[in-house]
Amino acid sequence: MPQIFSKKANLIPAVSLVAGLFASVFILLLIWYYFSPEFTDVGYAPEQPVQYSHRLHAGQLGMDCQYCHTSVQSAAHSNIPATETCMNCHAQIKRESLLLVPVRESWATGKSIEWIKVHHLPDYAQFSHAVHVNNGVGCETCHGRIDQMEIVAQAEPLSMGWCLECHRQPELFLRPDDAVTKMGYVQPADFVKRNLERIRLEGIQPPENCSACHY
Ligand code: HEC
Ligand code: HEC
Ligand code: HEC
Ligand code: HEC
Ligand code: HEC
Repeated sequence: MPQIFSKKANLIPAVSLVAGLFASVFILLLIWYYFSPEFTDVGYAPEQPVQYSHRLHAGQLGMDCQYCHTSVQSAAHSNIPATETCMNCHAQIKRESLLLVPVRESWATGKSIEWIKVHHLPDYAQFSHAVHVNNGVGCETCHGRIDQMEIVAQAEPLSMGWCLECHRQPELFLRPDDAVTKMGYVQPADFVKRNLERIRLEGIQPPENCSACHY
């Protein structure tokens, strides 16, 4: 029999099999990673220009979220407080603190502090704080235990699947309006029943159609 292929050619099928295997495992991993809700910024906690602590202010001092984030009930966007809000207290409290130097500088110059944004949705996804906060979705449900965070970290994936988990079954998540900014909310035993009743009475119906969130 004439030898058409060299001896080495025997290796080709083996090598391509291994290479193919690697490639498909790699692609599988990529797909899994991309589509899992963990492909997100959970845990993202950038260092801020001022060592402002929610654990101290919202936790120990017990300040309500809306003292600073005043627009959550009235607007799509939740504001970051102006330096003026900090100076309500820090004109008197900790006046000499080195940690507050950037705050006093901002106050003196009128140049706002450049806080680094933690949570991001892509521009093609629509989201409104007011709609959620006014329909009984708590800050805690989407942002976690902010009152325990020294530095704010993203607690939930904010992915499409995550949004829809609640839109499909809001009765598992809603709370009374007066508990919307409460941290460490404990659900009463009959909360699903109460929520179903509220959903019926108020006609709460979170959208699942694409154009509600993408337009
Ligand atoms: C004394 C004012 C103050 C209070 C009270 C306060 N915050 Fe904040 N919050 C800030 C400031 C300043 C920032 C920007 C710096 C940072 O991210 O830590 C911020 C940032 C945040 C962010 C991250 C925003 C982003 O960049 O994506 C969330 C979420 C948040 N606050 C939620 C809350 C919740 C929930 C409460 C109530 C439990 C609360 N805050 C109470 C001042 C306040
Ligand atoms: C309602 C009053 C109040 C407001 C409003 C307030 N703080 Fe404070 N802040 C305090 C108190 C009280 C302390 C703790 C003082 C102490 O440790 O004795 C404090 C401590 C701090 C400290 C630590 C200072 C140090 O030397 O330990 C920083 C930094 C700070 N605040 C930043 C801010 C920023 C930034 C804002 C605005 C977003 C703000 N605070 C708004 C009351 C306030
Ligand atoms: C249904 C989920 C949900 C609820 C409830 C919610 N948030 Fe948010 N929050 C988000 C998302 C998503 C973003 C990012 C928005 C974006 O990038 O457009 C965000 C962003 C923010 C920001 C940053 C705003 C900015 O653009 O810098 C602050 C501050 C904030 N939220 C505070 C609050 C507070 C305080 C409450 C409760 C009163 C609250 N959020 C309730 C989902 C939620
Ligand atoms: C924990 C529950 C929950 C989560 C999480 C949640 N939503 Fe909602 N969403 C609601 C409820 C409740 C409503 C109010 C429905 C109504 O008004 O009938 C709503 C309404 C909406 C609406 C309709 C707004 C309008 O003007 O009527 C949009 C758009 C929306 N959500 C987008 C989002 C997006 C984007 C996310 C994820 C980043 C998200 N939601 C996460 C509960 C949730
Ligand atoms: C409740 C709000 C909501 C609804 C309803 C919704 N989306 Fe999304 N969608 C989002 C959000 C938020 C993101 C951004 C996710 C992220 O940043 O990871 C997104 C991302 C996407 C992306 C980008 C790829 C990806 O997976 O991140 C596509 C494509 C998409 N949506 C298509 C659709 C289609 C098609 C429908 C209807 C069947 C739909 N969406 C309904 C909120 C929604």
